[in-house]
Amino acid sequence: MKNFVIISIFSLIIFSCKDFKETNTAVESGAQKPVLTNVAYDTITSDLTDSIQIKNIRVGAESTDEKNRFHVSYPNTKFNFINENEEGFAQSYLNEFEKSAIRIDANASAGVDFGQHFEVIEHSPTLMAFLIERYTSYGNNYAEEFFTHMYDLKEKRMLKFSDLFESPKQFSDFVKIIRPKAELDLKKEISKMEYLNQKDKQTMWKNMIELFLEGTAPTDDNYSAFSWDKEGNLTIYFDKYQLASGNFGSQKITLKPKEYEQLIQTKYRALFHFELVEKDAEMKPERPISTKVDCGKVPCIALTFDDGPSVYTDRLLDILKDNNVKATFFVLGKSAKVQRRTLLRTFKEGHQIGNHSWDHKDLTKLGAGSVQRQIENTNEVIREITGSVPSLLRPPYGAINSTVANSAKMPIILWNVDPLDWKDRDADIVAERISKANRNSIILAHDIHKTTIEAIPSVISALKKKGYQLVRVDELFSGIKLNDGEVYRQRK
Ligand code: NI
Repeated sequence: MKNFVIISIFSLIIFSCKDFKETNTAVESGAQKPVLTNVAYDTITSDLTDSIQIKNIRVGAESTDEKNRFHVSYPNTKFNFINENEEGFAQSYLNEFEKSAIRIDANASAGVDFGQHFEVIEHSPTLMAFLIERYTSYGNNYAEEFFTHMYDLKEKRMLKFSDLFESPKQFSDFVKIIRPKAELDLKKEISKMEYLNQKDKQTMWKNMIELFLEGTAPTDDNYSAFSWDKEGNLTIYFDKYQLASGNFGSQKITLKPKEYEQLIQTKYRALFHFELVEKDAEMKPERPISTKVDCGKVPCIALTFDDGPSVYTDRLLDILKDNNVKATFFVLGKSAKVQRRTLLRTFKEGHQIGNHSWDHKDLTKLGAGSVQRQIENTNEVIREITGSVPSLLRPPYGAINSTVANSAKMPIILWNVDPLDWKDRDADIVAERISKANRNSIILAHDIHKTTIEAIPSVISALKKKGYQLVRVDELFSGIKLNDGEVYRQRK
């Protein structure tokens, strides 16, 4: 699998060179310009649990006008058979991205945006299961897909949905429970179609039945996406077009344990009743230490860190603590959820926590409902961990439109100093760029890059030497009223 990765990166380099040549000729001939230039590859590993890490591959990045973006997170475990499969799965998506990106016209208004993230459904001594979500956008056309990867750790193999049942008969019985529920949901949707009369509605359902039966039939292809919670509620995800035409969207059906548990093989039955034990009794939030600096009177600069919490955040917190510096962290909801301890430490040590969306999607490409969910779900997980709701939003890529501004319900904080730390992984270069910041600046940095963290001690000493106070964003704007949905790049 290593070879595969190397070959793939190598082929990208070839691709890039090829691009460059083609760009030159394209300019002369006035033809299409290929776009896979300015590619930043990025493989970060951070700990999700003691035995599961998150790996990332990124193309295109923060604060660039890169049209095509790719950001995939996938699990890395102590089991090679799992890692090989997950890496291959991520790589095949990357190959698809490369093929699509190369076709995008440089003058097109929107590029391709591929995203993948995962959640751990189950992690027991005998089984590991991940729910993987992919968000694939070709300009205005986007699709969301779910995949479940379930691994038997004793037999060292990936399990299919059908493996959960003793026999095909039980799988069929399971389908008999699913179908009436799915039918009811679809009929509810049809009944909402006011432009149809009763007869049209009946005809519509009749015409759908064939696809519906095919899409719910007991095959592993049809049941490739599912998850369950700690109470054993099992949810099946059906893709858009699987059960009905596209305007019905995707469907999901949830079953309570008593509805399906008798159909599951004895050896897997216990898994669906996995009780999550809160491991850490001292995980209680406390009020952070409050610091009061009046940036109207003294020269201030705000350091901000995006995209965490990550495996490097703890080291950064140590540095900030040693130097008695407070900063602001714009965190991702999905990362906060799995790095609770780091987020709580950040909060307890007096830093400000801001909202950076749930999973780093370009919010300008989402509808109002999705934007609100991105913001609210992140607020909720931060509130749950720290006891405090963030009061600042920084949308991924700094991308804002009226929907984002209206959904924000808090001030939008961007930056005026960008050291391009995602691009130049060199602590000295990053430190030098940040150290040039002026009074009232907001500095954009990322606590997911080791080199950025390494740059911070010299940044702090250089800025302090110039007489600046390094403050949180709320302190930077002390005495100034910030309005919801309005954009701020520095104190004015
Ligand atoms: Ni970001």
